[in-house]
Parts: sequence; C-alpha cells; structure tokens
Amino acid sequence: MKILVAGGAGYIGTHTCVSLLQSGHQVIVVDSLANSRIENIQRVQDITGKRVEFIESDVRDRASLNAIFSKNRIDAVINFAGHKAVGDSVNKPLDYYDNNLNCAISLLECMVSNNVKVMVFSSSAAVYAQSAEPPITENTRTEPMSPYGRTKLYIEEMLRDVSRADKSWKVVILRYFNPVGAHPSGLIGEQSTGVPSNLLPTITRVAAGDQEMLNVFGNDYDTRDGTAIRDYIHVMDLARGHVQAIQKLEALSEGRVLTVNLGTGKGYSVLEILKTFETVCGRKVPFNCVNRREGDMACCYADPGLAKVELDWESELGMDEMCKDAWNWQVQSIHLS
Ligand code: UD1
Repeated sequence: MKILVAGGAGYIGTHTCVSLLQSGHQVIVVDSLANSRIENIQRVQDITGKRVEFIESDVRDRASLNAIFSKNRIDAVINFAGHKAVGDSVNKPLDYYDNNLNCAISLLECMVSNNVKVMVFSSSAAVYAQSAEPPITENTRTEPMSPYGRTKLYIEEMLRDVSRADKSWKVVILRYFNPVGAHPSGLIGEQSTGVPSNLLPTITRVAAGDQEMLNVFGNDYDTRDGTAIRDYIHVMDLARGHVQAIQKLEALSEGRVLTVNLGTGKGYSVLEILKTFETVCGRKVPFNCVNRREGDMACCYADPGLAKVELDWESELGMDEMCKDAWNWQVQSIHLS
C-alpha cells in the first residue's frame, strides 16, 4: 500500500516508517520538521535500503496536502502530527489545541476531498482517567489530565463523528502506553529538545554523565517497592503495531472505528528499570528518592488482549532490549549529532 505518514520524521513516526517499508509498503512522509530533523529520513532509508518520499510542510497547510493527494494514489494515512510533551501542554495549552486539532482537521478535510477514508491515528494512554484501576482496557473511563491528553481524546471523538456521518470511513485508533527504546541500529531514536523529563531518557543521560543523578519521584507508593509502575513498550513493537493496524484496515468493516491499546500488559517499577538498565548496560545510575511528581499515578499498565484478538499483535521485546537499545541510541546519537 502507499501510505501517507503525517509527522513521520519524529520518534514513533520514523520507527513506523522502517517497519512499513520492511513490510513492503511505500511511504510518503509529510512533516514540518518543527520537532524533528531531516537526517532522520535519510537514516530510515539507510536502515531499510528503500526510498522515502519526503515533503517538508505543515500538515495544516491544505494546499500542500492536497497537492500530495492529487499526485499520488494514497491508500491510507497514519497521523502522528502533533506536539507530545505532556508537561509543556499544561503551560502552552493553546499551542497544543491549535497544532494537534488543526493538523487532524486539515488531514481529514483533505482526505475527504481526495476520497481517501482510511486512517490510523496515534493516540495515547493519557486519555484514560488517572484513578482507573489497572489493567486498563479500552473500555476504561477516559478523563485526560492534561491538555495533551485532551487533544488526543478530542481527535478520537472527531474520528468517531466523521465515521458516524460517513460510513465509508475505516479508522484504527492506537492508544500507546509508555514508548521507549530505539531502533537497534542506533541510527534513529527519540530526540529530546532540552532536558528530557521521561524516565528512560533521563536514565541514559545520567548513565552518560550528562546529569548527576536520577530523581526517583516517590518511593512511598502502594507498589511492590514503593516506586511507581508503568507499562513500557519498545518503540519497534509499537511500530509493528501500526503495520498490523494497516493490514487490519483492509478487512475492517466500513464505518467501524477500532480503538486498541498498545502496551505489553506488564508493569515495571522505576527501581526495576533502573536495576535492569544497570545490569544490561553495565553502567551505574546514581539515584536519589525525592517527593512524588504532581499528577503521577501509582500504577498503570494495559490489558493488551484486544490487540491480540483484533490486530494479531502482541509485544515481543522485553525490558532488557528496551534498556539496551535506549542506551545504544544515547551513545550513538552523540556521534550522529
Ligand atoms: C507520560 C505520559 C504518556 C507518555 C509518556 C511518554 C501522562 C499521563 N502520560 O507518561 O502519555 O506516553 O509520558 O512520553 O502524562 N520518573 C522518575 N524520575 C524521572 C522521570 C520519571 O522517577 O526523572 C517516574 C515518574 O514518576 C513515573 C515513571 O517514572 O512514575 C514514568 O515517567 P515518564 O517517563 O515521565 O512517563 P509517564 O509520566 O508515565
């Protein structure tokens, strides 16, 4: 299939492009490069030995999008376009609403104009209520805590409304848990702008000596070792989930919106990751237990059962690979930048 990947130069987008190309699909990336780099596209080509057509443009630019649709017979669209830093969204809500919602509206309008009504949307476990008891199923109550999470939920609802109004749409919504790691080549990975706030990028930074200590946010949670538990998922597993979703779309009945969690179903505590990282990577990570971070919950992991049934997908890579590939990326990215 020929797939338009909006926001395809970013972290999850580049890994998904690798998986799509390796599965025999053709890929056209449209990305403004506001939060990513053009070199990423070359690296996707280097990894796969296949060509990526790249258009530098803001997805909100309808003229440019329409030109892409009219020049190509696009079979499906994957939408990664949007800002994704949860903390940042609290400080700059309008940026998030403007960018994330308008990218989605622009894409959907151009898709309608060009009669392409097949989409995979990149959503997040951030749509679920913080008070929800794990394992989180797709029917767990939604109540996002942040503007970022709300943009994801609103776009989901937009897709459901669009599909209700026109039954020829086929949509898969993927709700990611905590994506981590990188392609094993170390050529692509997550490029944080500024100091990272997520756990694994912070661990690799401390291990590299760029930061003195890891602050462990809270060791008094009601969990097995007192630290908070999350469902970390290797970005290559996540990428494969998109390929499965694309395949599933062909068989999906029209007008159906399929919403699926992508997680491993296994929870790891902060200290468990730290120990795994030290063992796998042979590096010490000094840490310090500090107060809980505001807004964090004790424990969150997916029920990944529906992904198995609907997408024939389950995670394959464990915490060892997540740590190894995150570290490899940290080491390589110093040479690449
Ligand atoms: C957040 C987002 C999620 C997003 C993910 C990765 C929410 C509800 N979820 O998840 O949508 O996919 O980021 O971008 O906002 N921790 C430390 N020390 C650190 C950093 C983190 O102890 O320096 C702890 C946190 O307290 C938390 C765990 O590590 O318990 C994971 O944190 P983080 O990587 O930031 O992800 P989430 O907040 O779970």
